[in-house]
Amino acid sequence: MTKLADEKVLVLDFGSQYAQLIARRVRQQDVYCEIVRHDLSAGRIRELAPRGLILSGGPSSVYEEGAPKCDPAIFRLGLPVLGICYGMQLACEALGGQVENTPAREYGRAQCQITGDNELFTGVERQTQVWMSHGDQVARVSDDFLPLAKTETCPIAAVKHRELPIYGLQFHPEVTHTPEGLKILGNFLTAACKCSGTWTMGDFARETIAAVRERVGNDRVICGLSGGVDSSVVAALLSQAIGDQLSCILIDNGLLRKGEAESVIEEFTDHFKIDLHVVQAEDRFLDALAGVTEPQEKRRRIGHAFIDCFSDEATKIDGAHFLAQGTLYPDVIESGGSEDGPAATIKLHHNVGGLPEDLNFKLIEPLRDLFKDEGRALGIELGLPEDLVWRHPFPGPGLAVRCLGEVTRERLVTLREADAIVVEEIKQAGLYRQTSQSFAVLLPIQSVGVMGDARTYEDVIAVRSIDSEDFMTADWSHLPHELLARISTRIINEVSGVNRVVYDISSKPPATIEWE
Ligand code: XMP
Repeated sequence: MTKLADEKVLVLDFGSQYAQLIARRVRQQDVYCEIVRHDLSAGRIRELAPRGLILSGGPSSVYEEGAPKCDPAIFRLGLPVLGICYGMQLACEALGGQVENTPAREYGRAQCQITGDNELFTGVERQTQVWMSHGDQVARVSDDFLPLAKTETCPIAAVKHRELPIYGLQFHPEVTHTPEGLKILGNFLTAACKCSGTWTMGDFARETIAAVRERVGNDRVICGLSGGVDSSVVAALLSQAIGDQLSCILIDNGLLRKGEAESVIEEFTDHFKIDLHVVQAEDRFLDALAGVTEPQEKRRRIGHAFIDCFSDEATKIDGAHFLAQGTLYPDVIESGGSEDGPAATIKLHHNVGGLPEDLNFKLIEPLRDLFKDEGRALGIELGLPEDLVWRHPFPGPGLAVRCLGEVTRERLVTLREADAIVVEEIKQAGLYRQTSQSFAVLLPIQSVGVMGDARTYEDVIAVRSIDSEDFMTADWSHLPHELLARISTRIINEVSGVNRVVYDISSKPPATIEWE
């Protein structure tokens, strides 16, 4: 845990789909926040010394056998506690209330009436919209609790313990459908937890740079640059921490977006003056992919080719004992890789293989505590250009999984050009930051068209643009028709061999973001 943790709040995770969102909402208010296991003991929590606790929602019913419970002693630590949904039910039940299955289950938006005066609702309208998602609710609270709010079907929608700093919300303040939710969470952080909001990227950068410097000493560190945001931020941070003790490797696998390798090379050699080893490996990757159409087999071969190229180059760099990676906090949580964190959830792991352990590197993961948007903020803080920092995420296997069917040099040219037009036009329309991922896909079929007086039989490009908070779910971007028209016209006019453009209007689930 970082030193900045002197002002931190812990989220006890009871299996909520929103646990990460809660943590992000807290951090958005400049308070450091971590997600921990729901059953962390009161003793361990005291050691971690948070300013407050948030009990997340969860899919269980508190009265069910085997329902996840927290250590009841946490309510007696004197720490402010905010229970959300299941978390509220748990707190009320632990302190003498009764939870029942609701006659009318409540899902979706509800009008909430604030009935009690409490610091939690400072600045909040007395009649405010909230997001409900529950089958159970608190039916009765002991006299120790003061009800603070109600909805039409939920008579106790918010509570406060009369003596202890314990609060409960039946609704979800962390989702955007509760417009005043951020304010309510903010009130909990400032009024109850007495947090002043000291979690800033400037401080984080300084602390992390100092910590990396101390850990590395006089050693050399290798960092793989992919062209993406995370590895670029890591490289920029390390460059500031250890200067020329850093060597970066960029494997140009021939599967990157248009201009991507060039812009990374320019940024890191000209601006950061990093020792950058560029491995031109297009032939190696395309040879490995020859004749392969099955998506997982593509990933497997790309994974192996990557390991080979990277290992070859890394062994040429003398005296390196550390490898820097751009692991983010959601990866840490989802792989169960944190000591006090919740158990690993099932993660669809896309990348085949990591780097072989026999390379014997010690890992440096300076972004382990950060969410993606915080990684971006750190990038800006470190002086990376906005263009690079706001680049949409790109899958490790790159254009190979967007080039459906066989990956050939010619087909990659078609795809890369079409993709560049999609991105350029969306940027031009001022929608690039609003969308989460926008790209072209080259389909493995040809379709009939007509050009002049002649019949054509050419490639089809699918345009995909999605909006997403976490990439686990996504909606297709409702792009203006005029923009789609421009993208289509330009691709058909400018990319030879394409006579048809279609727009993908599938959400995830049931579709996925990528086509392979
Ligand atoms: P899907 O297609 O599963 O993608 O909805 C979710 C997110 O993961 C990215 N993705 C990958 N990232 N290697 C990666 O590093 C992969 O093989 C891979 N496949 C998908 C995808 O771009 C989206 O952001």
